[in-house]
Amino acid sequence: MTEATDSSPLEARGMVELIADLRRRLAAGETTITLRVPDPDHSRGCYAGERYQRNGEVYVHRPLQVWLDLAERLDLRLRTPRPLGDGSMELRLEPLAEDPGWRREGPQTERYGRDSPFQRISKLEEPHLVADVADALDRLAPPDDARVLGLGINRGDEFKLLCQLRPALAERGSFVGIDHSASALELARGRFSAAKATFIEADLDDLPTLEIGRFDLILAFGTLQSPGVGDRALLRHLVRDRLRPQGGLLIAMPNCRYVDGEQIYGARMRNFRRPDLSLLLKDSAFYRRYLNQHRHQVFVTGKYDLLLTAIPRT
Ligand SMILES: C[S@@+](CC[C@H](N)C(=O)[O-])C[C@H]1O[C@@H](n2cnc3c(N)ncnc32)[C@H](O)[C@@H]1O
Repeated sequence: MTEATDSSPLEARGMVELIADLRRRLAAGETTITLRVPDPDHSRGCYAGERYQRNGEVYVHRPLQVWLDLAERLDLRLRTPRPLGDGSMELRLEPLAEDPGWRREGPQTERYGRDSPFQRISKLEEPHLVADVADALDRLAPPDDARVLGLGINRGDEFKLLCQLRPALAERGSFVGIDHSASALELARGRFSAAKATFIEADLDDLPTLEIGRFDLILAFGTLQSPGVGDRALLRHLVRDRLRPQGGLLIAMPNCRYVDGEQIYGARMRNFRRPDLSLLLKDSAFYRRYLNQHRHQVFVTGKYDLLLTAIPRT
């Protein structure tokens, strides 16, 4: 292994050593950590850690994704890498601001309301979610004139996504969205015509009392696991009383957190310092089993959001 002529050595340490070193430096209070690494554009097609030769020298290949994953895993931001013109590039890593959590003063119903930090986040910008929902819609194949129900609909992002992915549904379908945040529903009403979409301010536990009929497609994005929602009873009600015979369900369960402008893999659990997937696995296993037992085939996909797509068995 050779070192480049630049003052800093070209990064070639193994991942164990690298992580230990970054942790040491962060603990010592460094606020910007700079690394010089081989530019992976020169070794495209190699796998992470694979050695390759260039101009008679041996280097270790690491794709950009490895550096992004390393940054994400250590709660760091990877600044845009700068090619240095000698086959290497400079990486700068900096700690993310402390996660402020999303606890807010005021009523619980407005935790995700118009003035909450949640309104800065757009699911429509998440490549995994957009592509996974598109795949799910192919499986669900709702009719063009489908009735669609959205639970915890907030400002209506999932309806927007559906309309973009299925223009025929946007044209001929109809939408009902439920949420307990009055201010979020105001935003939703401003984005859809009243003829196309109805937004109802209600608690999800009161869904059985609403006269809204049955649906071809039910969406529950980031909603079933909300504190205080009786998800088991709600799911039973949806399957028994809200789905049309050929109706399907699409459930998204967040497996990420949002910190200082970054989306970070892994669901946070109360009283756990690090993200823990136990609750996500337990709940998704329950939903999947229940839907399986009630004549639905279930597909589980997704990354930052786990997606359960339930289609009726014929
Ligand atoms: C994490 S946000 C998800 C919003 C949206 N579905 C999305 O994926 O972008 C959860 C939403 O569920 C709503 N919500 C939570 N508990 C609720 C309840 N018991 N009754 C009605 N809405 C509720 C919140 O107001 C919020 O809009």
